[in-house]
Amino acid sequence: MNPINQRRLLDDLEALSHFGRGADGGITRRALSREDADARKYVMTRMRALGFDVKHDEVGNVRARRAGRKAGPVVMTGSHLDTVPSGGTLDGPLGVVGALAAIEMIGEVKTERPIEVVVFVGEEGSRFRRGTIGSAAISGHVSVSDILKLVDPDGVVYGDALATYGDEGSPIPAKLASEEVHAFVELHVEQGGVLETEKIAIGAVTAIAGLSQRQVSFLGEANHAGATPMDLRRDALAAAAAWILSIEKGARELGVVGTVGKLEVLPGGKNIIPGRVNAICDLRAPQAELLSAIDAFVVSSLHGIGDAREVEIEQSLLQRVEPGLMDERAISAVERAAAAAGLSCRRMTSGAIHDALHMAEICPSTMIFVPSRGGKSHCPDEDTAPEDLVNGCVTLAHTLIDLAG
Ligand code: GLV
Ligand code: MN
Ligand code: MN
Repeated sequence: MNPINQRRLLDDLEALSHFGRGADGGITRRALSREDADARKYVMTRMRALGFDVKHDEVGNVRARRAGRKAGPVVMTGSHLDTVPSGGTLDGPLGVVGALAAIEMIGEVKTERPIEVVVFVGEEGSRFRRGTIGSAAISGHVSVSDILKLVDPDGVVYGDALATYGDEGSPIPAKLASEEVHAFVELHVEQGGVLETEKIAIGAVTAIAGLSQRQVSFLGEANHAGATPMDLRRDALAAAAAWILSIEKGARELGVVGTVGKLEVLPGGKNIIPGRVNAICDLRAPQAELLSAIDAFVVSSLHGIGDAREVEIEQSLLQRVEPGLMDERAISAVERAAAAAGLSCRRMTSGAIHDALHMAEICPSTMIFVPSRGGKSHCPDEDTAPEDLVNGCVTLAHTLIDLAG
């Protein structure tokens, strides 16, 4: 095997970071945008140079195959290139270009099974109604026709965005049967501070927390900020504020996490009582029962606050993703790989959602985590030391060889 080419890995990450970089240094690459298309093109060119057979599927996933001695089933690895608004350079791209680095490390070594590098489309859910779109299509969790009908907040239909910024040529079917995939492993930054704090090189992921996101509107009454006495107001933002604090309290009590990261205050004048607030809450829990409990708490608190403040409430579920377990065979392959590379490794759960969650519905799956500096992610400060990036790629290369035979 070849050593990991650290220079090329860093160059690839640097090159991708230019597609969608904003003034604050953060990267904004919405699914099926021009920036996303540019990033995909860059990666596809790299894949072709490596001799891969590069295809794209009906929803826009890129699938690049390296032949094995046998035709199938395939061992898959990869991640996403779309980002959150003003995100970092590693969440997603590391799992894509890290996979290419691992394949270059494997070099001339022949494997029994083919290895496929996949770029999942629309993982972050920052544009269309849901995230993990590409993996949901591959696992069959959501039908291709339902995905093509998704609409973004500007009214752009997924199928049309795909026609504009997807790849040329006829696509392959998105859905894969269990028999077609032997295993899946995704390299990713931890996005938390456990590995850094414990000075451990590699995390082998055993489970991924589930997610519930609700879109909520508070409908109060816009009125004059100076002339309206406090007891004659129906302030939509004051109601939203009470609700946000109740989410914080409920999440702490249940030992889960809850966030309101998106809030729109209308009409948005400094001397106008807010008449309408649109918000999205994001709830995460490692078990389905806990996820249902925090979700029920949040909805009942919403209606209680609305009644008490005479503010009308409209709400709907944006998406719910069930928590999922990773597979023991895949997890132990990562542990063996880390040991072979002389790296420390611990098992851990993921609080963030990943495409591995849907891949686990059709094949043994796991993830390889590397330390995140300061535990930061979904922000421009997201960072990982170069040697930790390389450790992740080396572990991925050994894991792929183990799984592909
Ligand atoms: C994806 O990164 C998520 O967990 O929201
Ligand atoms: Mn990610
Ligand atoms: Mn993310």
